[in-house]
Amino acid sequence: MRSDPEKIETLRWRDNKLEMIDQRILPAHFKYLAFDSAVSVAEAIRSMVVRGAPAIGCAAAYGFALEARRLEPESPENFARGLEQGFVMLAQSRPTAVNLLWALRKMREVWQDRKTESNAIIAAGLLAAAHEITAEDIRINHRLGEHGAGLLPDNSTVLTYCNAGALATAGHGTALGVIRSARDQGKRVSIIACETRPFLQGARLTAWEMVQEKIPVTLITDNMAGHFMSRGEIHAIVVGADRVAANGDVANKIGTYMLAVLAARHGIPFYVACPLSTIDLATASGDSIPIEERAAEEVTGYRDHQWAATGVTVCNPAFDVTPAGLVTALITEKGVVRAPTEGGIRGLFESSPAIQ
Ligand code: MRU
Repeated sequence: MRSDPEKIETLRWRDNKLEMIDQRILPAHFKYLAFDSAVSVAEAIRSMVVRGAPAIGCAAAYGFALEARRLEPESPENFARGLEQGFVMLAQSRPTAVNLLWALRKMREVWQDRKTESNAIIAAGLLAAAHEITAEDIRINHRLGEHGAGLLPDNSTVLTYCNAGALATAGHGTALGVIRSARDQGKRVSIIACETRPFLQGARLTAWEMVQEKIPVTLITDNMAGHFMSRGEIHAIVVGADRVAANGDVANKIGTYMLAVLAARHGIPFYVACPLSTIDLATASGDSIPIEERAAEEVTGYRDHQWAATGVTVCNPAFDVTPAGLVTALITEKGVVRAPTEGGIRGLFESSPAIQ
C-alpha cells in the first residue's frame, strides 16, 4: 500500500496493456489491474476501478486504442465495425462526466484523419493520441492548480468533497491540484475531507492522497459540514466537476449542491475546479445533464457488509446539480471565471490569456 506521493499513476501503459490502480479497494490495498480491450476498460469504468471525470476520459481513450490494437489483424471492414462497437460500449459506460465523450470524440477524429491508412497505422495513431490526452491532462491540472492557488489565503482550511485528486485524473488533480499548487507556492493549507457517502471517495481516496503527501487533512462525515461552516472553521470550498453546462450549472458528486447552499448561507467562497474538457457547451443548463443512478447495494451497505433493512426501497443518484448562481468561481487551465455566466464560460474557449 505505497505510492510515491508526487507520482500517483492512476493509469499507466505497461507491456502493451493499460494498467489502472484498483480504486475500489483503496486504501486497504494498492494494486494495479491490467486491461487489453474496450470491453474490459468499459467494465472497469462502470465498476469504478477507475473513476473521476478526467480519469475516465483517459481510460476511455486507452480503451479505444486497445481495441484498435486488438482488431489490427482483421479486414478493414471488420476493423472499422469493431472500433465503432468499442466506441459505443465505452461511451455508454457512465453517463454524467462529459470528459468521457470528449476524449472519445478526440479519438474518433484521429481515426477519421487516418481512415484510408492501414489498420496498423490507425492503431499506432490512436495509441499516441491516448498517451497525449493523458499527458496533457497532467499539464492542464498544473496550470489550473496555479490559477486556483491564488484564490486561497495563507493559513486556510479548505473543505473538499468526493475525490478530485490525482486518482480522479491522470495526475495532480483538479480540486486537490489547487491544494497541491497552493502548498507548492508555500501556502499553509489544511483540508477538511467529507467522507462522501455512499462510495466514500472522500474517506478512502482524498484522505489517502493527502495523508500520503503529508498535507494536513481532517475527515468528517458529510452531515458535519454545516456545523464547521457555522463556526467559521472553513475558509473556502473547492470541488471538482463531472459536467459544467453552458450556463455554468455544475454536476458533481451527490451532496455538492448541499454544500454550495450551506456555503452561500455562511458567506464562504465555493470554487469549482475543472478542465475545459469538463465544460459542455452543447448542454444549455443543468436540467439536461444526465444523472447516473447507481446500484442500491452502494447505499444499503459497503462491499460485503449490509446494514440497511433487506427489502427497503433505495435511491442512489450519483450526482447532483449546483446552479451557477451558487458558484463563486470556476477555476480552469485558462484562468478563473468569477460568478460564471454563459458569456464568461464561452470566453474561455476563445481567449488564450488567463482571465482573473
Ligand atoms: O463517481 P465518481 O467517483 O466518478 O465521481 C467523481 C466526482 O464527482 C468528482 O468530483 C469529479 O469527477 C471531478 S474529478 C477531477
